[in-house]
Amino acid sequence: MASNNKKSKPNGKAITAASSQNFFRTWGRRFAVLSILVTVFAWLDTIKDRWYVFDPAFLHELAQAAISAHPNNTSGMITHIVSNLTATYPSSLIHINPNQHEWVFNNAGGAMGAMYLIHTSITEYLIIFGTPLGTEGHTGIHTADDYFHILVGEQWAFRPGSLEKERYTPGMVHLMPRGVAKQYKMPDECWALEYARGWIPLMLPFGFADALSSTLDIPTIYNTVRITGREIIKNLLIGKI
Ligand SMILES: *[C@@H]1O[C@H](CO)[C@@H](O)[C@H](O)[C@H]1NC(C)=O
Ligand SMILES: *[C@@H]1O[C@H](CO)[C@@H](O)[C@H](O)[C@H]1NC(C)=O
Ligand SMILES: *[C@@H]1O[C@H](CO)[C@@H](O)[C@H](O)[C@H]1NC(C)=O
Repeated sequence: MASNNKKSKPNGKAITAASSQNFFRTWGRRFAVLSILVTVFAWLDTIKDRWYVFDPAFLHELAQAAISAHPNNTSGMITHIVSNLTATYPSSLIHINPNQHEWVFNNAGGAMGAMYLIHTSITEYLIIFGTPLGTEGHTGIHTADDYFHILVGEQWAFRPGSLEKERYTPGMVHLMPRGVAKQYKMPDECWALEYARGWIPLMLPFGFADALSSTLDIPTIYNTVRITGREIIKNLLIGKI
Protein backbone atom coordinates (compact mmCIF):
# COMPACT_ATOMS: atom_id res chain seq x y z
CA MET A 1 0.00 0.00 0.00
CA ALA A 2 2.84 2.35 0.89
CA SER A 3 4.39 1.85 -2.58
CA ASN A 4 1.18 3.20 -4.20
CA ASN A 5 1.63 6.48 -2.38
CA LYS A 6 5.23 6.72 -3.54
CA LYS A 7 4.22 6.27 -7.21
CA SER A 8 1.90 9.27 -7.12
CA LYS A 9 4.67 11.55 -5.83
CA PRO A 10 5.92 12.89 -9.26
CA ASN A 11 2.55 14.70 -9.78
CA GLY A 12 2.73 16.15 -6.28
CA LYS A 13 3.75 19.70 -7.23
CA ALA A 14 0.96 20.28 -9.78
CA ILE A 15 -1.58 18.90 -7.33
CA THR A 16 -0.25 21.12 -4.55
CA ALA A 17 -0.53 24.27 -6.71
CA ALA A 18 -4.10 23.44 -7.75
CA SER A 19 -5.17 22.57 -4.24
CA SER A 20 -3.64 25.71 -2.76
CA GLN A 21 -5.62 27.74 -5.33
CA ASN A 22 -8.72 25.87 -4.20
CA PHE A 23 -7.77 26.48 -0.62
CA PHE A 24 -7.63 30.27 -1.15
CA ARG A 25 -10.85 30.30 -3.14
CA THR A 26 -12.69 28.28 -0.49
CA TRP A 27 -11.44 30.42 2.39
CA GLY A 28 -12.01 33.63 0.43
CA ARG A 29 -15.63 32.61 -0.03
CA ARG A 30 -16.01 31.65 3.63
CA PHE A 31 -14.50 34.94 4.70
CA ALA A 32 -16.90 36.88 2.43
CA VAL A 33 -19.92 35.01 3.82
CA LEU A 34 -18.69 35.56 7.36
CA SER A 35 -18.21 39.31 6.75
CA ILE A 36 -21.74 39.59 5.37
CA LEU A 37 -23.16 37.72 8.37
CA VAL A 38 -21.23 39.88 10.83
CA THR A 39 -22.48 43.04 9.10
CA VAL A 40 -26.09 41.82 9.09
CA PHE A 41 -25.96 40.82 12.77
CA ALA A 42 -24.29 44.10 13.73
CA TRP A 43 -27.08 45.95 11.93
CA LEU A 44 -29.83 43.78 13.50
CA ASP A 45 -28.26 44.47 16.88
CA THR A 46 -28.74 48.23 16.40
CA ILE A 47 -32.45 47.88 15.54
CA LYS A 48 -33.49 45.10 17.92
CA ASP A 49 -35.28 47.52 20.28
CA ARG A 50 -38.09 48.02 17.78
CA TRP A 51 -39.26 44.46 18.55
CA TYR A 52 -39.48 44.96 22.30
CA VAL A 53 -43.01 45.02 23.69
CA PHE A 54 -42.48 45.04 27.45
CA ASP A 55 -41.33 48.11 29.31
CA PRO A 56 -38.98 47.62 32.29
CA ALA A 57 -40.54 50.48 34.28
CA PHE A 58 -44.03 49.03 33.80
CA LEU A 59 -42.90 45.54 34.81
CA HIS A 60 -41.27 46.92 37.93
CA GLU A 61 -44.53 48.67 38.89
CA LEU A 62 -46.48 45.51 38.14
CA ALA A 63 -44.18 43.38 40.32
CA GLN A 64 -44.55 45.84 43.19
CA ALA A 65 -48.33 45.96 42.77
CA ALA A 66 -48.51 42.15 42.80
CA ILE A 67 -46.46 42.01 46.01
CA SER A 68 -48.63 44.52 47.83
CA ALA A 69 -51.91 43.02 46.59
CA HIS A 70 -50.99 39.46 47.64
CA PRO A 71 -48.74 39.49 50.69
CA ASN A 72 -47.44 36.01 51.58
CA ASN A 73 -49.16 34.49 48.58
CA THR A 74 -46.74 33.70 45.76
CA SER A 75 -49.35 32.06 43.56
CA GLY A 76 -51.60 35.09 44.09
CA MET A 77 -48.76 37.34 42.86
CA ILE A 78 -48.20 35.21 39.77
CA THR A 79 -51.92 35.22 38.94
CA HIS A 80 -51.99 38.98 39.42
CA ILE A 81 -49.05 39.46 37.03
CA VAL A 82 -50.36 37.13 34.33
CA SER A 83 -53.93 38.51 34.38
CA ASN A 84 -52.63 42.06 34.24
CA LEU A 85 -50.37 41.26 31.26
CA THR A 86 -53.16 39.47 29.43
CA ALA A 87 -55.45 42.48 30.00
CA THR A 88 -52.76 45.04 29.12
CA TYR A 89 -51.36 43.56 25.90
CA PRO A 90 -53.63 42.56 22.99
CA SER A 91 -53.07 38.98 21.84
CA SER A 92 -52.46 40.30 18.33
CA LEU A 93 -49.34 42.10 19.59
CA ILE A 94 -47.73 39.50 21.82
CA HIS A 95 -48.40 35.92 22.88
CA ILE A 96 -48.55 35.25 26.62
CA ASN A 97 -48.59 31.70 27.97
CA PRO A 98 -51.56 31.64 30.37
CA ASN A 99 -50.86 28.13 31.74
CA GLN A 100 -49.64 28.82 35.26
CA HIS A 101 -49.17 25.10 35.92
CA GLU A 102 -46.53 24.72 33.24
CA TRP A 103 -43.34 24.60 35.34
CA VAL A 104 -40.00 23.03 34.45
CA PHE A 105 -36.74 22.66 36.33
CA ASN A 106 -33.96 24.96 35.27
CA ASN A 107 -30.32 24.08 35.95
CA ALA A 108 -27.82 26.67 34.82
CA GLY A 109 -24.47 27.91 36.05
CA GLY A 110 -24.62 25.41 38.90
CA ALA A 111 -27.85 26.88 40.31
CA MET A 112 -31.18 25.07 40.30
CA GLY A 113 -34.75 26.26 40.41
CA ALA A 114 -38.00 26.02 38.52
CA MET A 115 -39.44 28.35 35.92
CA TYR A 116 -42.74 29.17 34.31
CA LEU A 117 -42.36 30.80 30.89
CA ILE A 118 -44.88 33.63 30.64
CA HIS A 119 -43.50 34.93 27.36
CA THR A 120 -40.69 33.81 25.05
CA SER A 121 -39.73 35.28 21.70
CA ILE A 122 -36.50 35.97 19.79
CA THR A 123 -35.81 39.28 21.54
CA GLU A 124 -37.63 39.01 24.91
CA TYR A 125 -38.53 36.56 27.61
CA LEU A 126 -40.51 36.94 30.80
CA ILE A 127 -40.50 34.12 33.32
CA ILE A 128 -41.18 33.36 36.95
CA PHE A 129 -38.03 31.78 38.35
CA GLY A 130 -37.28 30.59 41.84
CA THR A 131 -37.06 27.84 44.38
CA PRO A 132 -38.47 27.28 47.87
CA LEU A 133 -35.10 25.75 48.91
CA GLY A 134 -32.51 28.34 47.98
CA THR A 135 -29.73 27.95 45.41
CA GLU A 136 -26.45 29.43 44.29
CA GLY A 137 -24.40 29.71 41.11
CA HIS A 138 -22.99 31.69 38.21
CA THR A 139 -25.40 34.06 36.45
CA GLY A 140 -23.92 33.34 33.03
CA ILE A 141 -22.71 35.99 30.57
CA HIS A 142 -25.67 36.89 28.43
CA THR A 143 -26.48 38.59 25.16
CA ALA A 144 -29.49 40.25 26.80
CA ASP A 145 -30.13 42.76 29.58
CA ASP A 146 -31.72 40.96 32.49
CA TYR A 147 -34.17 42.55 34.95
CA PHE A 148 -34.69 40.32 37.97
CA HIS A 149 -37.70 41.53 40.00
CA ILE A 150 -37.75 39.93 43.44
CA LEU A 151 -41.27 38.92 44.50
CA VAL A 152 -40.52 36.74 47.54
CA GLY A 153 -37.33 36.18 49.54
CA GLU A 154 -33.89 37.55 48.77
CA GLN A 155 -31.24 37.33 46.11
CA TRP A 156 -27.62 38.13 46.85
CA ALA A 157 -24.92 38.81 44.26
CA PHE A 158 -21.36 40.05 43.85
CA ARG A 159 -18.75 40.70 41.18
CA PRO A 160 -15.02 40.11 41.58
CA GLY A 161 -13.46 43.17 43.15
CA SER A 162 -16.39 43.79 45.42
CA LEU A 163 -15.88 42.68 49.00
CA GLU A 164 -19.51 43.05 49.99
CA LYS A 165 -22.65 41.42 48.69
CA GLU A 166 -25.42 43.20 46.82
CA ARG A 167 -28.73 42.35 48.43
CA TYR A 168 -32.08 42.40 46.60
CA THR A 169 -35.39 42.13 48.47
CA PRO A 170 -39.08 42.02 47.41
CA GLY A 171 -40.01 45.00 45.25
CA MET A 172 -36.41 45.57 44.15
CA VAL A 173 -35.03 44.87 40.69
CA HIS A 174 -31.58 43.45 40.08
CA LEU A 175 -30.45 44.66 36.64
CA MET A 176 -27.75 42.57 34.98
CA PRO A 177 -26.64 44.40 31.83
CA ARG A 178 -25.61 42.35 28.81
CA GLY A 179 -22.12 40.92 29.16
CA VAL A 180 -21.93 41.15 32.97
CA ALA A 181 -21.34 38.05 35.11
CA LYS A 182 -21.86 37.61 38.84
CA GLN A 183 -22.07 34.96 41.47
CA TYR A 184 -25.55 34.91 42.94
CA LYS A 185 -27.32 33.18 45.74
CA MET A 186 -30.86 32.78 46.93
CA PRO A 187 -30.17 32.03 50.57
CA ASP A 188 -33.61 30.44 51.05
CA GLU A 189 -37.00 30.52 49.36
CA CYS A 190 -36.97 33.11 46.58
CA TRP A 191 -39.25 33.83 43.62
CA ALA A 192 -38.71 36.44 40.97
CA LEU A 193 -40.21 37.84 37.80
CA GLU A 194 -37.32 37.77 35.35
CA TYR A 195 -37.39 39.86 32.19
CA ALA A 196 -34.66 39.56 29.56
CA ARG A 197 -34.39 41.65 26.39
CA GLY A 198 -31.74 41.09 23.73
CA TRP A 199 -30.86 38.00 21.72
CA ILE A 200 -32.71 35.24 23.56
CA PRO A 201 -31.66 32.22 21.41
CA LEU A 202 -28.01 32.99 22.22
CA MET A 203 -28.84 32.50 25.93
CA LEU A 204 -30.05 28.96 25.35
CA PRO A 205 -26.64 27.20 25.36
CA PHE A 206 -26.09 28.42 28.94
CA GLY A 207 -29.63 27.34 29.80
CA PHE A 208 -29.03 23.80 28.57
CA ALA A 209 -25.35 23.21 29.42
CA ASP A 210 -25.94 21.89 32.95
CA ALA A 211 -28.75 19.60 31.83
CA LEU A 212 -26.68 18.19 28.97
CA SER A 213 -23.43 17.80 30.91
CA SER A 214 -24.65 17.01 34.38
CA THR A 215 -28.29 16.35 35.27
CA LEU A 216 -29.18 14.44 32.05
CA ASP A 217 -32.80 15.06 33.04
CA ILE A 218 -34.23 14.16 29.64
CA PRO A 219 -37.91 14.94 30.41
CA THR A 220 -36.90 18.44 31.59
CA ILE A 221 -34.75 19.03 28.50
CA TYR A 222 -37.58 17.79 26.29
CA ASN A 223 -40.21 19.96 27.97
CA THR A 224 -38.00 23.05 28.02
CA VAL A 225 -37.29 22.72 24.30
CA ARG A 226 -40.95 21.98 23.55
CA ILE A 227 -42.34 24.94 25.54
CA THR A 228 -39.66 27.41 24.43
CA GLY A 229 -40.03 26.41 20.77
CA ARG A 230 -43.83 26.51 20.95
CA GLU A 231 -43.84 30.00 22.51
CA ILE A 232 -41.27 31.42 20.06
CA ILE A 233 -43.25 30.03 17.12
CA LYS A 234 -46.60 31.30 18.44
CA ASN A 235 -45.05 34.76 18.68
CA LEU A 236 -43.45 34.59 15.23
CA LEU A 237 -46.85 33.64 13.77
CA ILE A 238 -48.27 36.98 14.96
CA GLY A 239 -45.15 38.84 13.80
CA LYS A 240 -43.57 39.23 17.26
CA ILE A 241 -39.82 38.77 16.73
C1 LIG B 1 -51.63 46.55 35.43
O1 LIG B 1 -50.68 46.94 36.40
C2 LIG B 1 -50.31 48.30 36.32
C3 LIG B 1 -49.20 48.50 37.34
O2 LIG B 1 -49.61 48.09 38.61
C4 LIG B 1 -51.53 49.16 36.59
O3 LIG B 1 -51.17 50.52 36.48
C5 LIG B 1 -52.59 48.83 35.57
O4 LIG B 1 -53.78 49.55 35.85
C6 LIG B 1 -52.90 47.34 35.57
N1 LIG B 1 -53.78 47.04 34.47
C7 LIG B 1 -54.81 46.19 34.59
C8 LIG B 1 -55.61 45.99 33.35
O5 LIG B 1 -55.09 45.63 35.63
C1 LIG C 1 -46.53 37.16 56.12
O1 LIG C 1 -45.79 36.14 56.76
C2 LIG C 1 -44.89 36.63 57.73
C3 LIG C 1 -44.05 35.47 58.22
O2 LIG C 1 -44.73 34.27 58.14
C4 LIG C 1 -45.68 37.29 58.84
O3 LIG C 1 -44.79 37.82 59.80
C5 LIG C 1 -46.49 38.44 58.25
O4 LIG C 1 -47.31 39.01 59.22
C6 LIG C 1 -47.37 37.95 57.11
N1 LIG C 1 -47.99 39.08 56.45
C7 LIG C 1 -49.26 39.10 56.11
C8 LIG C 1 -49.76 40.37 55.50
O5 LIG C 1 -49.99 38.14 56.22
C1 LIG D 1 -53.52 33.05 47.12
O1 LIG D 1 -53.87 33.46 45.79
C2 LIG D 1 -54.59 32.48 45.09
C3 LIG D 1 -54.72 32.94 43.64
O2 LIG D 1 -55.18 34.27 43.57
C4 LIG D 1 -55.93 32.26 45.76
O3 LIG D 1 -56.67 31.28 45.06
C5 LIG D 1 -55.66 31.79 47.18
O4 LIG D 1 -56.89 31.70 47.87
C6 LIG D 1 -54.77 32.75 47.92
N1 LIG D 1 -54.37 32.16 49.19
C7 LIG D 1 -54.45 32.80 50.32
C8 LIG D 1 -53.98 32.06 51.51
O5 LIG D 1 -54.88 33.94 50.39
